[in-house]
Amino acid sequence: MNVIEVVGLTKTYKHAIKQPGIIGSLKHLVNQKYVEKTAVDHIDMFINSGESVAYVGPNGAGKSTTIKMLTGILVPTSGSVRVNGMIPYENRIQNAKDIGVVFGQRTQLWWDLPISESFSLLKDIYEIPDYIYKENLDTFTSLLNLNDFVNLPARKVSLGQRMRADLAAALLHNPKILFLDEPTIGLDISVKKRIREFIKKINVERKTTILLTTHDLEDIKEICQRLIIIDDGKVIYDGNLDAIKNAFSREVIIHFQLREPSTNIKSKLRLPKVYIESKTDINFCIRFNRLEYSTAEIVSLVMNAFDVVDFKIDEPSVDTIIRKVYDGQIELSI
Ligand SMILES: Nc1ncnc2c1ncn2[C@@H]1O[C@H](COP(=O)(O)OP(=O)(O)OP(=O)(O)O)[C@@H](O)[C@H]1O
Ligand SMILES: [Mg+2]
Repeated sequence: MNVIEVVGLTKTYKHAIKQPGIIGSLKHLVNQKYVEKTAVDHIDMFINSGESVAYVGPNGAGKSTTIKMLTGILVPTSGSVRVNGMIPYENRIQNAKDIGVVFGQRTQLWWDLPISESFSLLKDIYEIPDYIYKENLDTFTSLLNLNDFVNLPARKVSLGQRMRADLAAALLHNPKILFLDEPTIGLDISVKKRIREFIKKINVERKTTILLTTHDLEDIKEICQRLIIIDDGKVIYDGNLDAIKNAFSREVIIHFQLREPSTNIKSKLRLPKVYIESKTDINFCIRFNRLEYSTAEIVSLVMNAFDVVDFKIDEPSVDTIIRKVYDGQIELSI
């Protein structure tokens, strides 16, 4: 069942431009000029209950704008959006009961209240039954180690503590979907790890659907099965992580180590479109395109020509591939 259904979703921001000075201000009053920016451009997205999806793309690609439309904060310019069967901006209160939201850049907690009091206010707002509230609070307190700072106001805790409190707050009412906009931004490695494990656990054990934006590719690898890449407001990839790897990791590098030094490595292995780099007399690597040769073919050719003691196959990581997509070095079409 699709819990998120988005068709042709578009958001155009319109903001007035003002010429400088007093004359500019006067002109601005009488004759306003606008510039338009299409931040989200005809996006389609179908997400099933229980999926964990990474929504990634370069700065300004339109990720946060999409999340804001899915959570009912922004009204789309055109297109349709349904979350749990509802139109988010028309049913903000009902929609809020079924979703949890964390914006890494901004807390959802009351700034001056002790975090524990923010939690109990949320209990009242969401009408969370006592037993669910207590059970969730106990679980999140131990998983996220909230005890040390839960009595401090949000403004006094560190960023990592604040993010953990925000995550707990977003999940107290057992939402079906959790939207996370850069939940690990600015955190140290150990807090990132804890947060990733927590999100993963919530997805696996509670079957909570996760939609997560991030610039940290480790988040994707640890948490998500599926990846949607957006660039300049348009979806340029939608598929699982392995598929992107298989489709775009065409270059394979194999490192070989020989038993005996050899001075004529290159001349012994002359193959079209195969590149050999020798590092020392016993170490070299071979680069080729997997569409031209298979790894097995190359390994067996080298094994026949030399006495090989060791070899290691390097395939580009998902990180490398996604970075290349961002940089425009790989064209994706779906
Ligand atoms: N309130 C706004 N008014 C006008 N333009 C906006 C507004 N919010 C965002 N934009 C523009 O819309 C585009 C998409 O912004 P958005 O914040 O959705 O990107 P993002 O993918 O979340 O980027 P980042 O990775 O930096 O968080 C950008 O060009 C941005 O400048
Ligand atoms: Mg953003």
